[in-house]
Amino acid sequence: MKDHLILKDLSVALGDAEILRKVNLAISRYKILAVIGPSGCGKTTLLRTINRLIEEEKQARVSGEILFKGKSIHQIPLAKLRKDIGLVFQQPTPFPMSIYDNLAYALKYHGVRGKDNLDKIIEAKLKLCGLYEEVKDHLTMSALKLSGGQQQRLSIARSLCVEPEVLLMDEPCSSLDIHNTKIIEDLIVKLSEQYTIVIVTHNLQQARRIADYTAFFLEGKLMEMNNTEAFFANPQEEETKQYLQGLFG
Ligand SMILES: Nc1ncnc2c1ncn2[C@@H]1O[C@H](COP(=O)(O)OP(=O)(O)OP(=O)(O)O)[C@@H](O)[C@H]1O
Ligand SMILES: [Mg+2]
Repeated sequence: MKDHLILKDLSVALGDAEILRKVNLAISRYKILAVIGPSGCGKTTLLRTINRLIEEEKQARVSGEILFKGKSIHQIPLAKLRKDIGLVFQQPTPFPMSIYDNLAYALKYHGVRGKDNLDKIIEAKLKLCGLYEEVKDHLTMSALKLSGGQQQRLSIARSLCVEPEVLLMDEPCSSLDIHNTKIIEDLIVKLSEQYTIVIVTHNLQQARRIADYTAFFLEGKLMEMNNTEAFFANPQEEETKQYLQGLFG
C-alpha cells in the first residue's frame, strides 16, 4: 500500500480551542513529508495526535480518523502503535546514562536479550545514524557529554532500536548549528529508504532540501500540500504565497 498513514477529517480540540480542523492528508511510504506553518498552527499537535499522545491531555477531543496501513490507530494496541510510529523531539533526549546503555535500555525494554544480540543491534543503529565511528571507543561515556548534534543522532538511533515504520520528527534541527543540521538532514534522507518520515520544520529551506512533499498549515487547517518542488515553485493559495514570502509567521 502506497499510503502508509491516512488522516480523514481529523479534528482536535483542547477544551474550547479548536487546534486542528478537518485535516485530510495521505502520507506515502518511504517518503519525507515536511510540515510547515507559523508558530501555533498545530504542527506539534498533529504529530502528537498521530501517535495518540494528545489523548493524554484530559481536555482533548479528537474526531475523524487516522488509518495506519489501512487500520484505525484506535484498533492497534497502544504499545504497538508507539513502537511502529516513533517520535523524535525538538531537543535531543539522551538518558543520563552511557551511550551504550541509552540504546540497550530501549532494546531491553522491548524484550531484546543477550549481550551479543544487543551489541550487534547497537552497532548497526549507531552506524546507520553515522555515529559509530565517533563513539565506538567511548561507548561507556555518559551520553550527556556528547555534542548537541551527536545527542540528536543518538536520540534518533534510540528511536530506531525498536524498528519503527514511521518516524515523526518535531523540528529535530532547531537546536543545532548549520554543520550538525546538514548531518541530520543527510541522515533523514538516508533513513527515508527504510522509514516513512514526517518532519515538522520552521526552516523552509530545509523542507526544500529534503522533503518529497510539503504541507502548509495555518490556524489548524491544512491549506495546501504538494510535491515539494511544485509546492515552492507554484503555491496555489494566497496564504501560502504570503507565508513563503515571509510576510507572516
Ligand atoms: N496542552 C495544551 N493545552 C491547551 N492548548 C494547547 C496545548 N498544547 C498546544 N496548545 C495550543 O494549540 C495550538 C497549536 O499548538 P502546537 O504546539 O501544535 O503548535 P505548533 O505549530 O507546533 O507551534 P510551534 O511552531 O510554536 O511549535 C496553540 O495555539 C497552542 O497554544
Ligand atoms: Mg511545535
